Amino acid sequence: MKQSDRTHDLVKKAYGEVARAGRDCREGSNCCNKHYVMPDHPVPGADLGLSCGNPVSFAQLREGDAVLDLGSGAGRDAFLAAQRVGATGRVIGVDMTPEMLELAARNAEKFRETTGLSNVEFRKGQIERLPLRDGEVNVVMSNCVINLSPDKPAVFREAFRALRAGGRLLVSDIVLLRPLAEELRHSEALYAACIAGAIGKAEYLQAIRDAGFAQVEILADHLYSSADAAGDPITTQVGADLEGAAASITVSAVKPGCCCER
Ligand SMILES: C[S@@+](CC[C@H](N)C(=O)[O-])C[C@H]1O[C@@H](n2cnc3c(N)ncnc32)[C@H](O)[C@@H]1O
Repeated sequence: MKQSDRTHDLVKKAYGEVARAGRDCREGSNCCNKHYVMPDHPVPGADLGLSCGNPVSFAQLREGDAVLDLGSGAGRDAFLAAQRVGATGRVIGVDMTPEMLELAARNAEKFRETTGLSNVEFRKGQIERLPLRDGEVNVVMSNCVINLSPDKPAVFREAFRALRAGGRLLVSDIVLLRPLAEELRHSEALYAACIAGAIGKAEYLQAIRDAGFAQVEILADHLYSSADAAGDPITTQVGADLEGAAASITVSAVKPGCCCER
């Protein structure tokens, strides 16, 4: 089995367990930050505390926008975006974990009952090989996912492909500020917890530029603290070693070209 397949399996197992339990991040080891939990989310079960930013709040979404959410999980950001783009817009969430997709589908039903909107769909797939046509959307967002990918440059290339010219990328993610100790880098639990797979901030921004994006800008930058991880057993255990090692950033970028049509 290829290393990238092993990494996908590790991530699917970790997030499959989270989705099955429908629990929030305090009870297990996974990407987890209590700062971004939204008590007033329209579908409370869609916010499992797995986020490390709020890309929707920076996305300046408009009625009619077509939005893609990479690693949509239980649907937290997809539903927030769907409210903003309205009935004339649409949101596509892509995730590879079957249990997460099942939970997202149940949440979509609750979202429809609550808001009357049925403008969200969830597709099964890997973000390194998106199940989307070229130029299918005009906004791509992602929240605490790309650090989990074994091939981050491929993810940004695929986001670029799925966007129309003039379209925007909004990504919240974990990046490293200094290398991790050897034993932490090889910890599978810390990988699933969104830390061990993270790359350096400069490398991350360069991967976005290398995919073809312009106007790459950091909109938010918060030092990661293990205290933020809400008692996640893994990050708490190695908390002292992680202090100052990572940050959660939100980045925007633009696919060059004229006049993004909707
Ligand atoms: C930390 S959770 C974040 C979920 C969601 N974005 C949120 O903020 O609630 C990571 C999600 O990304 C998915 N994921 C991770 N790597 C992926 C990949 N390579 N392709 C597709 N989905 C992936 C996982 O299945 C999981 O649902």
